[in-house]
Amino acid sequence: MIASQQLKDLLAGTVTRGEGNSCFVLGPRGSGKTAIVDRAIASLNQTPIVIRLSGHTELNDHLALREIARQLSLQTGKTYLGELNNDDDQDDDGNPFLDAGPSIDIPPPSHLPTLVSALTTLSQPVVVILDAFDLFALHARQALLYCLLDTAQSCRVGQGHNGIAVIGVSTRIDTINLLEKRVKSRFSGRMLRTAAPIELSFWMKLIERVLRARIETPEEEWELLWTLAIDSFIADRKVLEQIQETVAVTHDIRVLQRILVGIVAALAPSSPFPTCAQLSSAVHAQRIRDPFPHLSTLPYPSICLLIAAVHAHTAGHDAVTFEMLYDAFREQYRASAAAPIQVAGGSIGVSRCTREVLMRGFEHLIGEKIFICVAASSTSIAPGFARYRSALTWDDVKRAVDKMGKTSLKKWLTKAQ
Ligand SMILES: Nc1ncnc2c1ncn2[C@@H]1O[C@H](COP(=O)(O)OP(=O)(O)OP(=O)(O)O)[C@@H](O)[C@H]1O
Ligand SMILES: [Mg+2]
Repeated sequence: MIASQQLKDLLAGTVTRGEGNSCFVLGPRGSGKTAIVDRAIASLNQTPIVIRLSGHTELNDHLALREIARQLSLQTGKTYLGELNNDDDQDDDGNPFLDAGPSIDIPPPSHLPTLVSALTTLSQPVVVILDAFDLFALHARQALLYCLLDTAQSCRVGQGHNGIAVIGVSTRIDTINLLEKRVKSRFSGRMLRTAAPIELSFWMKLIERVLRARIETPEEEWELLWTLAIDSFIADRKVLEQIQETVAVTHDIRVLQRILVGIVAALAPSSPFPTCAQLSSAVHAQRIRDPFPHLSTLPYPSICLLIAAVHAHTAGHDAVTFEMLYDAFREQYRASAAAPIQVAGGSIGVSRCTREVLMRGFEHLIGEKIFICVAASSTSIAPGFARYRSALTWDDVKRAVDKMGKTSLKKWLTKAQ
């Protein structure tokens, strides 16, 4: 990967030649941003001091400063910041509510510029990684970013300093536009992009590699069986479709990892090999939860009202009232009674429901939050005329009706109004 090589070169410049560098690593989630930064650091022939900050936890510069001081103390074993620390925690002595752990000297915020410029005077070069960089841009006056980038820019080779590299990692492609002018002018403008491959063959190879991972097994026979099972699993057209669908939704490798873990976790002595059904349930578990999983078990009157509401929506009514739905139901009942369909001697038309029963069904739907009130309920409106919106789409109702398997309801739902 070009980005990876560029990042390695940049860090090598900082570590071996003492350069001050800054760059952004930008790319979608799970595209390997953190991975290439880690790999670049691991490839260096001298270990630098690495300070990792995340915009999600360092909500302001004060927290960031504390974290920098903490990580510096941990990695250097010294408290460089001792002289910076002044009187603000002297009255904490004897406070029983304070953590009695090893104390770390925390400088006050006014020492931010001093602390940051002191980074180049340490015994080793420093790499500062700012994950979720865009969130750091929200800090007041972007003081931390200003100090870091200013230090990196003014760090010149041959002045007896150690190098410093500031790496901003973000998913936002427009991150640079978030910087204030004086901060932006101190940034080198170097941006590296990462992207997950989109070809299906890459993902299939990845899956194959994961599933064929070698494990120590006492039985050779089992290994052969497993290999054959994976062969047929990978070759299955349905498996391919499922993967294609998943990859089309997200290119985050971690989602795929979770799916594969789901498959392996579902293996049991009774079904020791991965199957397409396991894959689809693992894929399904990673998708958004169905908000109404039990629609098909709703009582008959409620389903009738749902169908009536779907038809009302198709006819252009965004909101429905009980009276509208009741009318629609009566009409459907009359139509089905006028042309009864007989199967094996029994009628399969719409069953009769009284107004009270339907009202109960209506209340049930409100209770399930399937019908949502569109205006504040008022005592001046009779319950039958209060306006509601259905949270379901035609597809949701269709799936529920299909699962119930009542022909009359299916006919009603698919009937053109
Ligand atoms: N090209 C790749 N080949 C193999 N594995 C990869 C590749 N890219 C990323 N990964 C793996 O995907 C996982 C997620 O990558 P990483 O944590 O670097 O993503 P990220 O871009 O930092 O995501 P986030 O924006 O959520 O921080 C890691 O386990 C990493 O090893
Ligand atoms: Mg990351």
